[in-house]
Amino acid sequence: MAEESSGTPERGSGTTRRGFFLAAGTAAGAAAVAGASGWLLRGVSGEGDAAAAPAPTASASPLPTADHRAGVTYPAVPQRHLMLRVVDVAGVDSADLPALVASAVDALGEVPADAGEVTVTVGYAPEHALALWPERAAAASALPAFARDDPAMITGGDLAVQVCAETASGARDASEAVIAALGGRVLWEQAGYRDAPTPHGTARTSTGFIDGIINPRTPELLAAGVWADAENHDTHLVVRRMYIDAAFTTRPVAEQEQAIGRSRATGAPLSGGGPDDEVDLFSKTADGRLLTPASAHARRAHPTNIGRALMLRRSYSFDPPSGAGLVFIAYVADPQTFVLTQRRLDEMDDLLANTSTDASGCFFVPGS
Ligand code: HEM
Repeated sequence: MAEESSGTPERGSGTTRRGFFLAAGTAAGAAAVAGASGWLLRGVSGEGDAAAAPAPTASASPLPTADHRAGVTYPAVPQRHLMLRVVDVAGVDSADLPALVASAVDALGEVPADAGEVTVTVGYAPEHALALWPERAAAASALPAFARDDPAMITGGDLAVQVCAETASGARDASEAVIAALGGRVLWEQAGYRDAPTPHGTARTSTGFIDGIINPRTPELLAAGVWADAENHDTHLVVRRMYIDAAFTTRPVAEQEQAIGRSRATGAPLSGGGPDDEVDLFSKTADGRLLTPASAHARRAHPTNIGRALMLRRSYSFDPPSGAGLVFIAYVADPQTFVLTQRRLDEMDDLLANTSTDASGCFFVPGS
């Protein structure tokens, strides 16, 4: 289905006219909710025209193109809060899921003004995606086990529901409404936050490092690394709940920086340049030492070392009792890009060596 938003009438002082932006991938949803193709801001006062819709935030991308998928590439600066839930929907055939998803999102109620732009992004488990969209979702697959998976790893689920908002309560309430309307049983869930955006639109994670610096932002890079399908702009959502040991977060900052390959304060590469610059994998000190160490995360994960296009990372932090936590979220054109990258990080990576993962999944997010 098309990316769309369903309206929220303005009812009283505590609420405002705000759109829900949906990337749920249901043809039925497009017809029922938007009735139009492409990226649409639903008329939130109920008229159903884009003119009545709220203006995007100042940081948001210009409207509307296929490269602005709700909760994926839109808003350009991700909202501050996440509620991710992976659910089982018992007794529902694959064929009935898109209509169920569309009606669940359509049932969303009003949103407090401070929740900002609320996005709902729904991914389908591989078995459903392959049944519903056999050609478009041909690459859909469950993730294999990885080296630092927790023995009690949670996998599976029929749907992944990623809800993002500017407030924690806004994300939680919208998520609860969608899950209730789906009649879903929550398999695992995690709330997350992003620190205030840097001047560059990125944010620090709970490790204190800025994440998401190197991300695909141009149509060309998105086409190469994020969209599974040039026509529909489908994508695959990878979610991993990761814990970073206190053994990493309590290390001297200089050691943490060597493990990442970037400055903790500014995000600038150890190889030189400004906070937005790419890591230079080749630059060395006068005595021949690599400025980006061999086992630094930014080197190990670098797409040129994987031989694949750049994935889009849109992660959120959480605070476990010790160390740091990350709801790792990536959108990829092909799940194998994630698998190959993760395997390389499992072989050697000074950051990932200090992590464990206890919940994981890969879900197909249809575009139009
Ligand atoms: C505990 C979990 C993780 C943390 C805290 C983390 C943090 C970071 C940081 C701080 C950067 C450098 C800044 C940036 O370019 O965004 C980075 C880069 C990157 N990370 Fe991670 N990361 C984590 C897990 C992963 C995983 C699981 C993958 C994929 C399997 C991954 C893939 C990448 C990629 C592709 C880059 C960009 C490298 C480049 O081209 O320079 N990360 N990460």
